[in-house]
Amino acid sequence: MIITLASFKGGVGKTTTAIHLCQYFATRKPKLKVVLADGDPNRTAIDWEESSQFDLPFAVVDASEDLPKYDVLVVDTPARTEPDELADLIETSTLVIIPTKVDIFDVRATLALGDALRPYPHKCRILLTGLPRGKRLYESAKQLFDEQGLKSFDGGIQQLAVYRDAAYEGVPVGRYNEAGKKAMADYEKIGAQILKGWKNG
Ligand SMILES: Nc1ncnc2c1ncn2[C@@H]1O[C@H](COP(=O)(O)OP(=O)(O)OP(=O)(O)O)[C@@H](O)[C@H]1O
Ligand SMILES: [Mg+2]
Repeated sequence: MIITLASFKGGVGKTTTAIHLCQYFATRKPKLKVVLADGDPNRTAIDWEESSQFDLPFAVVDASEDLPKYDVLVVDTPARTEPDELADLIETSTLVIIPTKVDIFDVRATLALGDALRPYPHKCRILLTGLPRGKRLYESAKQLFDEQGLKSFDGGIQQLAVYRDAAYEGVPVGRYNEAGKKAMADYEKIGAQILKGWKNG
């Protein structure tokens, strides 16, 4: 399975999502062989891995180099995906995940690309990120996507300081502290939906 992170705005949580989905797939039972391919010239994921003082249960490699064997390949991409690159990403991926902050301007930026996404309902999923406490914004954003025929995951990723703190240590949040373990539950829920969809073809 190849999962690609793409977005039409930068700084929405692509790399963070790539890291935490890899952590989930590599540690759940049965464990999967997981590779994170960094396709961002900024090398954010590679730098993160190199700065890590922990042994990670997945490999992080440069997407332009030969890839090791994998069950799940997670591909991180540069800050902004050009609309005309999107079709290629969809073609080469099992699933394209589009993290989108729950703020209305971010939601509209993804909605604007609806025509490019709508033809591939089984291959594109929006992941709502930057969720505040409470469900109101999440539900408003999800409803807008539903109305436009765009699929989003059930649940999203809360905005929590532990992601920034853990990134400094080069460690997935679930291994950072107790707050991080709770935060990781958001990604576990998303990962489980991905695996369910994969199994059901
Ligand atoms: N759920 C979250 N809560 C709080 N901070 C977060 C969360 N997810 C990511 N961040 C922080 O937000 C910043 C941007 O996240 P990230 O680098 O994952 O986004 P990106 O989409 O990959 O950015 P770019 O477009 O530059 O590649 C980072 O500092 C990261 O630690
Ligand atoms: Mg990134």
